[in-house]
Amino acid sequence: MAGGGVVFFSRRVPEEAERTLERAGIRVAVNPRERVLAPDELIRRCRGKDGLLCLLSDTIDRSFLAASPSLRGIALMAVGFNNVDVAAATARGIPISNTPGVLTDATADLAWGLLLALARRIPESERFLRRGKFKVWGPMLFLGGDLQGKTLGIVGAGRIGTAVGLRSRGFGLKVIYTDGKRNRVLEKELGARRVSLPVLLKTADYITLHVPLSPETRHLIGARELKRMKKTACLINTSRGPVVDEAALARALQRREIAGAGLDVFENEPRVHPGLLTLENAVLLPHIGSATIETRTKMAVMAAENLVAMMRGKRAPNCVNPAVYGKPSTN
Ligand code: DGY
Repeated sequence: MAGGGVVFFSRRVPEEAERTLERAGIRVAVNPRERVLAPDELIRRCRGKDGLLCLLSDTIDRSFLAASPSLRGIALMAVGFNNVDVAAATARGIPISNTPGVLTDATADLAWGLLLALARRIPESERFLRRGKFKVWGPMLFLGGDLQGKTLGIVGAGRIGTAVGLRSRGFGLKVIYTDGKRNRVLEKELGARRVSLPVLLKTADYITLHVPLSPETRHLIGARELKRMKKTACLINTSRGPVVDEAALARALQRREIAGAGLDVFENEPRVHPGLLTLENAVLLPHIGSATIETRTKMAVMAAENLVAMMRGKRAPNCVNPAVYGKPSTN
């Protein structure tokens, strides 16, 4: 056996991941249930395993790590790793990897899907038709807004934020962004301007969030920020739910303080604030940002390749805690 060891997959993922590991001589055990395992079940299944491939719906915290001493590496099939206590893993010398880059385009596409759905009121008018209410073409029926000449505000201009910005070219939007660093690509390609968050909030017609979840970004958009937005503006979130104060958002939408919201992520997933569920001006999706066959396959293979490296005692290519190897991150 070249690599050796046995790893556990917390859910069934595209089968190329399993093949990648098996080709490296690593055995794979897969959660047989089509659901997220409870913390004690995950611990039980990981007992005696050398590695774990897990998802954003698994909580990899201090107590899980303490109860799983056989694990030599954990590969997360996601780019955001807020569900993992990275500091605790580092303290135990366990490398953690994520899947950056491969889901950029799929997620950016979905952000645009939400933007278009809101601008042209697509889900709302589709519901109307399905209810049998489409009796005659109407000159005032479901009037939305043009995109041409409007302003797109990108909060967090990393990989995904940049890809969302670049997609604006065909639609004729102006782009502004907020980020700790200047984004030369957005500035050069689109003439985008870097502005402060308050300026972005009061200027943009469509605000799209692309920040990782951290203590600094939790509730980055709350009641005060929503009040700063234009009444005609829409908020799009394909990053992490807790970046937005969901109760405050539901209130702002109910009171028409902003025009709409397109959400692929929620504060307490899979639960959705009940106030949002009844609103016509909220487009709600079950966290499908990266859900294309091609992208999920790439994510699964990338996670598996990281596990292979970890099982061979080599540096995982997408390690988020390189301190375990005593070297800085290139991720
Ligand atoms: C990620 O990878 O962080 C995404 O949210 C999964 O779609």
